[in-house]
Amino acid sequence: MNTSHPDTETGQQPHGAAARRGPFRPGERVQLTDEKGRMNTITLTPGGAFHTHKGFLNHDQLIGASEGTIVTNTTGAPYQALRPLLSDFVLSMPRGAAVVYPKDAGQIVTMADIYPGSRVVEAGVGSGALSISLLRAVGDNGYLHSFERREEFADIAKGNVETIFGGKHPAWKITLGDFQEQVLEQEAPGSVDRVVLDMLAPWECLESVATVLAPGGVWINYVATVTQLSRTAEAIRADGRFTEPEAWESMVRGWHLEGLAVRPDHRMVAHTGFLLTTRRLAHGVTGISTKRRPSKTGFSEEDLNAWTPRAVGERAVSDKRLRRVARDASSTVQRGALPADEAQTRREAEQNGSPG
Ligand SMILES: C[S@@+](CC[C@H](N)C(=O)[O-])C[C@H]1O[C@@H](n2cnc3c(N)ncnc32)[C@H](O)[C@@H]1O
Repeated sequence: MNTSHPDTETGQQPHGAAARRGPFRPGERVQLTDEKGRMNTITLTPGGAFHTHKGFLNHDQLIGASEGTIVTNTTGAPYQALRPLLSDFVLSMPRGAAVVYPKDAGQIVTMADIYPGSRVVEAGVGSGALSISLLRAVGDNGYLHSFERREEFADIAKGNVETIFGGKHPAWKITLGDFQEQVLEQEAPGSVDRVVLDMLAPWECLESVATVLAPGGVWINYVATVTQLSRTAEAIRADGRFTEPEAWESMVRGWHLEGLAVRPDHRMVAHTGFLLTTRRLAHGVTGISTKRRPSKTGFSEEDLNAWTPRAVGERAVSDKRLRRVARDASSTVQRGALPADEAQTRREAEQNGSPG
């Protein structure tokens, strides 16, 4: 049977695709799962070994083997070996702030209608989890321009993006600074198809979004609290240049599958964030739904002053800690993987429901 892919023959593969196919190669990240479902991510090194308190297995047993292979260690314990998926990677990669979870990234890509070849702007970048999904969606011939105000976060994101794509992505540009100012300097009016914001105060970006977004373009916001959601929605309504905003959240509950014991998992990540979308109307048009606008937007000066990162539950992260994570992220690119114990610790934390 001919199993080769047409793109493989012509060499015209989308960025990062080649690294995700074929037998395991040295330097690759491999996820090992033991009989109890415990996972460890290792980097394949010729002559290297993966040790546990129950023996070890040689990396050479995996190099050249097919993905999905089962290998046994020196005490006969079997491990299933697979390449980590994007969803595995973002939950275990170095991070300095809460990342957009795979369930929300999927919603964002679909509901904001991010298509191959589209021109997308995004802020903030944080650790780059959402940037990775957006780059996958826009593809090599698309354009993702990400804005981040903190240099340390930008460095973490660059390391993570380069690790998963195996190098720089041709569609990605990252700019340091405040989105609301930088985007006006760097993107022509009406030239952007989609705007994706994951930040504390998206309403501060309204004027800039209205300027750069093309008529019909989608603006999606990811916010952590109801108060941010409400303020963003009211600002959009009051502005009048956008369609009526729509908001929702998604909840994903895993299921336990064992014989007759088929039931929802006891634990889940119950809350990540809310999504809110709207679309840019044509120039000179005022939204019909603004007729339904409440007479008062409901935010007093006192409310606005109380609006601090800490008040909405954001953890303060020191520059020193971020520099350390950025060093981890860039050494991860060089090594090609996370230390096994770190990946495992992160995964356990995620499974226990602590999002960021
Ligand atoms: C929660 S994190 C983003 C996480 C990211 N989406 C991910 O999936 O990894 C929010 C980021 O927005 C950045 N930020 C906040 N306001 C900004 C603004 N006006 N312009 C640029 N970046 C901003 C912060 O520095 C922070 O890194």
